[in-house]
Parts: sequence; structure tokens; C-alpha cells
Amino acid sequence: MKNKKYLFLSLALLILIIAILFSYNHASGVDYKNILGNIASIDMSSLKSWQQNSGFNKNLTFGSKNNDVKLVQKALSTDSKIYPEKIFSGYFGKYTRSALISFQKENNIPVTGFFDEITRLKMNEIFYNELCPIQVKEYPDYINFIFSKTNKLPDDFIPRDLQNVQYFNVRSAGGIICLRSDALESLKNMFDGAKKEGVLLAVTSGFRKSSIQQWLVNYYFNIRGEEALKSIALPGYSEHQLGTTVDLTGSSINYKSTQSNFGNTVEGNWLNNNAYKYGFFMSYPLGNSEYIFEPWHYRFLGLDK
Ligand code: DAL
Ligand code: ZN
Repeated sequence: MKNKKYLFLSLALLILIIAILFSYNHASGVDYKNILGNIASIDMSSLKSWQQNSGFNKNLTFGSKNNDVKLVQKALSTDSKIYPEKIFSGYFGKYTRSALISFQKENNIPVTGFFDEITRLKMNEIFYNELCPIQVKEYPDYINFIFSKTNKLPDDFIPRDLQNVQYFNVRSAGGIICLRSDALESLKNMFDGAKKEGVLLAVTSGFRKSSIQQWLVNYYFNIRGEEALKSIALPGYSEHQLGTTVDLTGSSINYKSTQSNFGNTVEGNWLNNNAYKYGFFMSYPLGNSEYIFEPWHYRFLGLDK
């Protein structure tokens, strides 16, 4: 009898906790976990297109037909309550309108049924958070983190203070790319210093959270098998997760990314001779034991180095 009473009480308590959590999520407006929160795992190619285009830049309306509509449809479909039809036609018709209405209601923004300015900014914010998340859990600084087979970064590690390089007038050849602000400040000085000598640099990759690194590993593993692991680090083992590390390119190779001949270009050569003055060091030089020669990959270790 007593046991039954306890069972009943614990069950009631559990229901109460679930109810409180549920109402909290709804009251707080954006619930990133339910709304598009898993874009990265569901549709990385959409995230990449969005990144490359530097976000949604145009409003869309009934009858619009283009790739942006398709991207919006994919994003909306990650919550099946919002876009259960999951049609990725790239055509803005009645299903897209009704999905947008649900999205707008869910996010407490004006319900217009169009992909208007406010909706576009809200959607950009959600995508942006995948590439440049805010640090939720505090971790040590990790600027000098030493990677080894037994020392990896926590999967949920996000550096503090990630900033979009484009906001600092640092040229990006990969759309929206974020870095830790100290690394970014020094990168900007380095780019400006190079420019004074006629050397034009750009970034092609910066911070990558663990799940994005996992996606890259899977992608390259499917193409190249085991060989891929010589050029891409497993999640938790990539310096890119530190937010201090960049892949660079230059004007002489039309800002193409990760070219093996980058070391012989005027920009690669300039970096080889000057990057250390700005606290950046090539992590994987010729003959290193960890990965292939990566003349484009530089890690910021601080200015006192
Ligand atoms: N390409 C380097 C090894 C990385 O994935 O971090
Ligand atoms: Zn790299």
C-alpha cells in the first residue's frame, strides 16, 4: 500500500517536471532544439549553401522560385510540426506559406506568410547559431591545448566570443566564418600587413563545431576511405574546434581552398616568413607525422609566442 503511494507520488512529480519544462520551452520563444536545432545533422549541405551565400539576403514571396526557397523549405522541414509536407521544390506555394505562418507564430514575429525581412533575419539567426554558436558551458581557455591520441576536446566545447570575420573586414572566401576575437584581431593585422606588401589573403575555414567536423569526416571517408583521415581530424581532435585556427588562401590561386601548391604561392611564402609575427603558426608542415602537408592551415597561439 505504502509502495503504491510512493509510486503514485513519484509519477505525479515526474509529470509536473515535464509540464514545467514544456511550458518553459514555449514561453521562452525560440526553442532551438525543436525548431531547426539539428540543421547540422539533418542537412549539412543546406547549411553549407547558406554559409557560402553569406546568409539569406533576399525576401521571398508567393510564387518565388529559386534555390533560397528550397533552402528555406529544408530549414522549415526540420520541425515536422511546422512543415510536415517536406516538399523541397524550390517553389513558394501554399505549403511553404502555411509553414512560414507556423514558423512566425512559433517565433512570435508578425504573421505574414511571406519570407519578409523579419522572418529572414530570424531564420539567419538560427542558421548563424550553427556556425558561430554562443558558449553555453564554460571551459578553460584552451588556447594552448595540446592534442594527442588521449587528449581530445569535449564534444560540446565551444570557444567564447566567436565573431564573424566579415564584420572585421577580413576577406572570407567561404562566406560566414567565425573565429575567437583575439585570433581574429591578429588575423586582421596580419592580412593588413600582407596587403601593404601587395599580398592578398583570405580565410576559407575557421571555427568548426564537433558535429560539423564529424560531417566532414563522414563526407571525405565516403570518398577516400581510410586515406581521408590523413587530411581531416576526427571530431574533438581538430584545431578548428578551438576557434583560433584558420585555413588560408590568396589571390594568386583565385581564393580556392586547401590547394596543395599553396606553399609555393606568393601568399603561402609570405605566411611562411611572416605569420609568426602575428602569433600564427603552420601546424602541419612538410614531413609532419600527423597529417598531410597543410601549408594553408595556421593556428593562433597568442602574441607572446
Ligand atoms: N585538416 C585538419 C587536420 C583538421 O581537420 O583539423
Ligand atoms: Zn585547417
